[in-house]
Parts: sequence; structure tokens; C-alpha cells
Amino acid sequence: MASTLLSPDCSTSAITARHLIPLKRKLLPAAIQFVSFERSLSSPWSPSLCLSPSASKYRTVVSAADPGSMTTLDTTAKIIDGKLISQQIKDEVSAEVTRLREATGVVPGLAVILVGSRKDSQTYVRNKKKACEAVGIKSYEANLPEDCTESEVLRHIEEFNNEPSVHGILVQLPLPRHINEEKILAGVSIEKDVDGFHPLNIGRLAMQGRDPLFIPCTPKGCMELLHRYNIDIKGKRAVVIGRSNIVGMPVALLLQKANATVSMVHSYTKSPEDITRQGDIVISAAGVANLVRGSWLKPGAVVIDVGINPVDDTNSPRGYRLVGDVCYEEASKVASYITPVPGGVGPMTIAMLLSNTLLSAKRIHNFK
Ligand code: GUN
Repeated sequence: MASTLLSPDCSTSAITARHLIPLKRKLLPAAIQFVSFERSLSSPWSPSLCLSPSASKYRTVVSAADPGSMTTLDTTAKIIDGKLISQQIKDEVSAEVTRLREATGVVPGLAVILVGSRKDSQTYVRNKKKACEAVGIKSYEANLPEDCTESEVLRHIEEFNNEPSVHGILVQLPLPRHINEEKILAGVSIEKDVDGFHPLNIGRLAMQGRDPLFIPCTPKGCMELLHRYNIDIKGKRAVVIGRSNIVGMPVALLLQKANATVSMVHSYTKSPEDITRQGDIVISAAGVANLVRGSWLKPGAVVIDVGINPVDDTNSPRGYRLVGDVCYEEASKVASYITPVPGGVGPMTIAMLLSNTLLSAKRIHNFK
């Protein structure tokens, strides 16, 4: 993989990249300790800088009609606007919540369980709560201390499982190390598993001819973006980078369900750039800043960037900025469609959580 970081466009970046992680750890506030989708497995992937604003080899071509002239094709990718689409979805959810409430008196309810005091998880939970309020979903919260026991978490889950006003339950991940994530996720009633992480829901997602009760939110958000931009999936080659339980694995299953031919690239894949270059659709959820260079992409590929990675930026008042897994400067000159970071997949996750909670309330109350 190291060779891929030493492309001519980025000759100094490999040296800088080696210093990026320790520097980042020193400078970034605790609020920005993001969950890395793939890197947590002591991955050999390392972050890269992509400083080249031009990537000019993709821009200037010789016109076929007039081979003597150099013509610059406008190959700038169309932006897939996750902020806009997520707002549309929230408006749709809000209208349906009102219809449900007026017809039946039922108000959808979402319970969020947060264990410990990770700043990033606290921020996510706060944002989920705010989003619920905005569309008329009632939110419930259980905040448990870092050192609570597994049975305490399971007891709270059981209470929410039995509470009729709660239609969705979400246990914020990651959990502290001493708590067995598998046991916790299996404790959530599958009828209220709005995260779609219960083994039965994931199992159904993986099987032909079966459907889960819920689809995990970030993967569902990626698919929704493709659908709402009328991007064909059937028969296309799709490449998923990263194989986490939260994004990579379920999004690959969804693409396969949608009849794409799917390859997965992960930290032990040989020549990841060659595999990625075969993709008509590339979804990256590696959690490594600027991993995917312009040269990794097939011209015209559709690029969905799930990464949200902090990198040092002395020009920003916060001392850092957020970038995706994909080197946007380069990729936007090769791809046909691309999601920005921020403002791409990020806002879709919460929109899908609201949508799943509404779906659950309607299903439980048999409301069409
Ligand atoms: N942590 C990061 N992403 C997610 C998510 O989609 N659901 C939960 N429960 N925890 C997360």
C-alpha cells in the first residue's frame, strides 16, 4: 500500500503522512476522536495527504475532432448533496409523523442508550435527539457510566423493549471494552432494532429472498443517495472499501441485493487501487483520510465517501478540518458523481434513523 501513497502528484505527502497520526492525536480535542471504521483493527492502512489541486492529467485531452488542438473537457463531477436530500427525507418523515399522530394518537419514540462519556458519542447522541424533536419523534435517553456492568445495560434495553411508547432502540457504539457488544446488540428486540445491528436483521440482509426489519442507517443512507440521484446499480461493478459491521459489510450486502457485482477492499487487499479502479460505483468507509486518490478511480465512477476524518489545519480556528477517505480535489475531476465531506453521507445517517423509527411505529401499530 505504501507505494500508492507515493504518487507523483503527492511526492511530499508520504513523508508528512507518517507524522500525521501522532501529530493529530496531540492537537485534536477529545470531541474529535472519531470511530475509525476499519483502522481499529491495527490496519496497515495509513492516511495520505492529497495536496494536488490540479490532477491535470484527467482534465486536458486532445479533441478527437481536431487532434491538433488541446481541449479541456469539463469533467467535474456532479455533487451528490446529502444535506439537501436528508432535509427532504426529514420533511417527509415529519409529514408522516403528523399523519400517524392525527390518525391514531401514536407518537413515534426513539430510545438512545449511551455508555460512558466519549465526546464524539455524546455529540452524536445530542444530534440524534435534536433531529427527533425537529420531526415530532419523542426521544428517550439512558446515560450510563463508563464502568457500568453488562447486565445494567441489558436491564435498560429490556425496559425499553417492554415500553410501548418506545418504537426504536439504539445503543451508541463503540461500547467500553469490558462490555460485550454482541450480547448487547442481540438484547435489542428485533422489532425495535432501528440500527439494524441485531444478528437476525443482519442475517436476513445477507440472505437471498429475505428482508431485514431494519437496514443499518449509514448504508441505507448511501443507497438512498444513489436512488435519489437515479444512479443505476443493477449489473454495475461496485467496490466497497472497508469491511466494518456498521458500514462496509452491510453496504456491500445492500449493493449485492440491488444486483451489483461487489468487490470488497480492505487493509489486507493487494493492489487496492487496481480493484477500486474497476468500480462503476465506489463506496469508501475506511476511516483513512485521503486514502482514495484520483488515480484509483475509473473515469465516470460514482463515488460515495463515508469517511469523516479530522486532519490538522492551522488555518482553521479549531486547528483541524474534516476530510473524507477520498481525495476530493482529484476524485472530483475523474468521477461522474461524488459526495462531499462534510455534507454528503453524514447528514443521511440521522435522516435514516428517523425514517427507521417512523417505520417501526407504523409497523407496530399496523398503520399504512
Ligand atoms: N457509532 C457510529 N455509528 C453508529 C451508528 O450508526 N449506530 C450506532 N448505534 N452507533 C454508531
